[in-house]
Amino acid sequence: MEVIIQPSPGDCAATGARIIGQLLKGKTEAVLGLATGSTPLPLYRELITMNQRGELDFSTVTSFNLDEYIGLQGDHPCSYRYFMEQELFKDINIEAERTHVPDGLAVDVSDHCRAYEQAIRDCGGIDLQILGLGTDGHIGFNEPGSSLGSRTRIKTLTGKTCEDNARFFESIEEVPRHCITMGVATIMECRQILLFAFGEAKAEIIAKAIEGPVSAMVPASVLQMHPEVKILIDDAAASCLEHADYYKEVFAGKPSWQCF
Ligand code: GLP
Repeated sequence: MEVIIQPSPGDCAATGARIIGQLLKGKTEAVLGLATGSTPLPLYRELITMNQRGELDFSTVTSFNLDEYIGLQGDHPCSYRYFMEQELFKDINIEAERTHVPDGLAVDVSDHCRAYEQAIRDCGGIDLQILGLGTDGHIGFNEPGSSLGSRTRIKTLTGKTCEDNARFFESIEEVPRHCITMGVATIMECRQILLFAFGEAKAEIIAKAIEGPVSAMVPASVLQMHPEVKILIDDAAASCLEHADYYKEVFAGKPSWQCF
């Protein structure tokens, strides 16, 4: 686990975009795992700029999103499909048919989840997954208590997540209680993971995820078991970490061949 602490979300986004750039330059048919929420927005803006400057090409990239609300159609302004169209897809040269977001209106949810897993396998697996972090420790929508061996499936959101996400809806009553999310094991199979978290509101849960015990009660803590994880956080999100100075020293002293 490589913890990269930078002064601002913009700095983290620039670093993340460079890592994604390296992947895309080295692999034409790269498969990206994408996330929603406010956290990945600076990264998406960076990727859009690089794409528009001709520095990054998404024409042969395939994407899989982590999750979607059940009951929301793709053109609903609060759906994650809509979010992705607005915040990234419409501004880069990715092929629409290569983008995948779980279908919130799937009639047979179990069948749809199995097919989603199969589609990921058919593309050769996810090369790089972007993650945000819920204040209750969730990744994707894997809420506390999610099996560390879970696959794509239906989940019920916690009250805390509904409260956190109510800001995107007219009222908390409108936040769907159910979602489809990639499982913890699905995420753990991605070859590389970048988790971003910004601001003081994420500081306590970041400390639990990185320096606490691995536990299904803090789903993000399982990332400690993944061999290729980078945690990109700003100073505020790093403020509860016991070993922040050490992580900064490690990053500052990286040999040039490890830099990005
Ligand atoms: C939602 C998403 C998560 C995301 C989390 C954090 O619950 N399902 O993937 O990480 O929000 O949101 P934010 O980045 O807005 O803090």
